[in-house]
Amino acid sequence: MKEQIVILDFGSQYTQVIARRVREGNVYSTIIHYNTPAAEIAAMKPSGIILSGGPSSVYTQGAPLPDKNIFHLGVPVLGICYGVQLLAQFLGGKVEKGQKREYGKGTLTIKDKSCALFSKLPQKLQVWNSHGDKLTKLPNGFKPVAVTENSEYAAIENRAKKFFGLQFHPEVVHTPRGKEIISNFVHGVCGCGKSWTMRNYVDQAVEEIRAQVGKEHVVLGLSGGVDSSVAAALLHKAIGNQLTCIFVNNGLLRAKEAEVVQEVFGRNFKVKLQYENATKLFLGKLKGVTDPEKKRKIIGKAFVDVFQAATKRVGNAKFLAQGTLYPDIIESVPIAGNPAALIKSHHNVGGLPKGMKFKLVEPLKNLFKDEVRLLGEELGVPKEIVWRQPFPGPGLAVRILGEVTSARCEILRNADAIVVEEMKASGLYYKIWQSFAVLLPVRSVGVMGDERTYDYTIAIRAVESQDGMTADWVKLPYDLLEKLASRIINEVKGVNRCVFDITSKPPGTIEWE
Ligand code: XMP
Repeated sequence: MKEQIVILDFGSQYTQVIARRVREGNVYSTIIHYNTPAAEIAAMKPSGIILSGGPSSVYTQGAPLPDKNIFHLGVPVLGICYGVQLLAQFLGGKVEKGQKREYGKGTLTIKDKSCALFSKLPQKLQVWNSHGDKLTKLPNGFKPVAVTENSEYAAIENRAKKFFGLQFHPEVVHTPRGKEIISNFVHGVCGCGKSWTMRNYVDQAVEEIRAQVGKEHVVLGLSGGVDSSVAAALLHKAIGNQLTCIFVNNGLLRAKEAEVVQEVFGRNFKVKLQYENATKLFLGKLKGVTDPEKKRKIIGKAFVDVFQAATKRVGNAKFLAQGTLYPDIIESVPIAGNPAALIKSHHNVGGLPKGMKFKLVEPLKNLFKDEVRLLGEELGVPKEIVWRQPFPGPGLAVRILGEVTSARCEILRNADAIVVEEMKASGLYYKIWQSFAVLLPVRSVGVMGDERTYDYTIAIRAVESQDGMTADWVKLPYDLLEKLASRIINEVKGVNRCVFDITSKPPGTIEWE
């Protein structure tokens, strides 16, 4: 069984970040529900356990508590924030409401340099705090090893039992050396090696896919996006010709997208690729439709129909592969006082159309997005695909305001190609979340040469974001904006004006629709 660190999730917004930090140290990590029975955890044979933070107070009714036997498994434990308060509470210490909330940057002073967590770190560190409760009495066997301005128990340890607690958050970027603290726990205390690499993962995943699929056939909807592309490359490595990828051209793709997918997967990887040119069908159904929600519904339904018909033509496939990622399958913790907290069910991810009787293969379901990209590189998927910016399923339709016609798609496709090309040339394309063109339904007057024009407007959008939930507009350099506008207006027929969108999200959304 692979070496792993188990993370008990008490509802912190940073739990997934902890998991990623552990993995960045080349150790596999799994997030599990806070009240998973100790026997189940023992069966996972973890090298160490991390108790995440969380919004609750350990002394309130209904606070999420772990199985108390996790402290008797003989496995090292690291409690972070709420996690350290749990450690204290369970092992005989005391937690009380602090006089004031400790929030934001603080300075940690290490008092005991021999503590394994702070090995090779300076005596003073910048750390990030976010807690209202305070440890007021340490449990027996524990001693303080570091302090902050407001907390004499900012880091504690029971060296004999290998139990550690941190009142601050080592996992966030505002604790710049936090990654080393986590690495010290994982490697120094728990004794983990560095077995979690994408190179190792490929072999393991290939074996698992073969074991699951046997001699059966698999179909995969290939969109050309990062997840489905990497899933296709991995499956192809595992089962070769037993995989058929279905690529639907809905007429709403970016310039050269269909060609790139056919070139990379069909000709280079030699994947069995079924190309469905459904351009006419989609554009036919979108004729005269201007309402954004209607457009989405039409596109969604048409996709299911085309895909379903295509799978029938593949023949005898028993499995459908999906590029589901780890964050999609982690159950979020319902927090006391907030029963409405969403529990994700992984069956609604990706949406298996009703009536399709496939078994699912989800070869990326243990991976975070950044790991999928590394896996893609390992498998030889070109940078152009692995590092591409997100592109919405309904394609250019959400960037064409008003009616979606073949001619208007062409205008936007040409303008967008210029944005992508210039963003890449400036080095900014791979540094920001998204940059693209939007076609507005307004026409305005212009002059070109000696002629009066009456043409469309293109809006340029460039945003910075972590996950698409919030976003800031990017202050593109003036000379780049100038080049974009002048190239779009000169080269794209039908456009005589360019504007730059300076709206952040919220209150705006990223796509205009
Ligand atoms: P909004 O416009 O809601 O977009 O701020 C947030 C992020 O989601 C992407 N997006 C989509 N992705 N199918 C997708 O796969 C969709 O229907 C869709 N709509 C928006 C958008 O590009 C941005 O990254």
